[in-house]
Amino acid sequence: MNKAMSSDVQVELARVLGGPEEERLVNAFFVMYKTARIIDATNAMFARQADAFIERLRALRIDRRDITVKRVSRRFFVNDRMVRFNEAGNVGADVILTEWKLLGLAGVKFSSRLERQDLIDFVVFLAGLRVTEENVEQLAERVRTCSLQGIELLSVQQIEEELPAFSDAVRARFRRSARESFFRAMAVAEDLILSASTEREVNMSKTRRVVQGLIEHILKDESSLIELTAIRDYDDYTYAHSTNVCVYALTLGVQLGLDRPRLSQLGFSALFHDVGKVKLPEDLIRKPDRFNENDWQQIRQHPLLGAKTILRHIEHDVYAARAARTAFEHHLGTDLTGYPQQVLDQRRPSLFSRIVTIADTFDALTSGRVYIKEKITPAEALRRMHTQQGQKYDQLLLKLFIDMVGIYPPGSMVLLSTREVALVVATNRENPLRPYVRIIGNESGLLDIPEWVDLSDLEHKKRKIVRMIDPRKYGLRASDYILSD
Ligand SMILES: [Fe+2]
Ligand SMILES: [Fe+2]
Repeated sequence: MNKAMSSDVQVELARVLGGPEEERLVNAFFVMYKTARIIDATNAMFARQADAFIERLRALRIDRRDITVKRVSRRFFVNDRMVRFNEAGNVGADVILTEWKLLGLAGVKFSSRLERQDLIDFVVFLAGLRVTEENVEQLAERVRTCSLQGIELLSVQQIEEELPAFSDAVRARFRRSARESFFRAMAVAEDLILSASTEREVNMSKTRRVVQGLIEHILKDESSLIELTAIRDYDDYTYAHSTNVCVYALTLGVQLGLDRPRLSQLGFSALFHDVGKVKLPEDLIRKPDRFNENDWQQIRQHPLLGAKTILRHIEHDVYAARAARTAFEHHLGTDLTGYPQQVLDQRRPSLFSRIVTIADTFDALTSGRVYIKEKITPAEALRRMHTQQGQKYDQLLLKLFIDMVGIYPPGSMVLLSTREVALVVATNRENPLRPYVRIIGNESGLLDIPEWVDLSDLEHKKRKIVRMIDPRKYGLRASDYILSD
């Protein structure tokens, strides 16, 4: 681990490892399950683990509901909340899950009346099923017909019925609401910037509501908004830039396991990061040519101007304080190079600033519309940023960010080995080379109805990504596909 890592990152990392309540529940479940395979059910250690698990169930069961732990498409859910659970990190869990798959088992529902002995009987029953090729049919039948007290085993079919989130109609609805949330954030970014330039008061409650909307979408599906950052053909890129930076920062914040109040402050700080630019001449900001030294001297003022603007326009609370610090520090490297150089103390930039710096640089490089006037591919942007990890960018955060946008970031267009052209919809963490895509055309032309394909699915193993393509060369616009269903 990076020695220079500040304590707040360590705190955040500890949170990632500890995880929220749902994450602990899934972990406790697998610990108990694995223990049942090695020791006798009468062992005191096993009883303690069962108690710990029931304790976790209680902590979650505020309204005395039943609790379901299930796995859908390699993702874990506790009721309808997705859990960041790393199978590989929990030694042995992948073996159990492979067995579940063979048995057609996808989840377990724990009744609110569950007793400790019921739980022990259940785990002993499940852990005792040693699946082999020969007995799989027979065991699957035992799972289907078993009767356990306080517990229901859920089959893959049941889960799919229960989770309409994966039907096309629901997916389309979710995408539409993610889009609405994104464009609402962009309107708020515009409003914020205009308020600051005309000395009007910023509508704080609206801004918080909109940031909350973004957070809800990201918590449900981490890549739901990343795809939208790829729409770059706006007349005025300023507001889209703030919104994109906000989406990247929040997605990274969710990965770090930040709680909702902190996510809300982070989103808010990200939306405001460039607000100081309203105090600079407009023709400088919109200058189509490269900046000269004189331009840069002015540009370097925007972090300080931003911090001042925030403190002047917003009531002094934790939101304002964090946003002001982020605006001030977002062009400072972790090694304190960059600007502004009139930093009084030699503290490293805050966690929020380091997150926003990464989000900001990535968006600026890939849009070619913020500082540099030529746009580069996401992969090239990540490569350049990687060469400055530890100096300009926080090493841990940059690594998380690279994992998050992936080799083929959502919103990019790719050519497949089958000569098909596809739009990347979501990254696939287990297999970054095989993301989730929408095929929009083939050698004969554009498809009337784009086809949704999970490239990591074995049935699509013939389709491989050959390379990323520039949609303009094919007369296509990524945004047309991102904005359609
Ligand atoms: Fe900036
Ligand atoms: Fe920026």
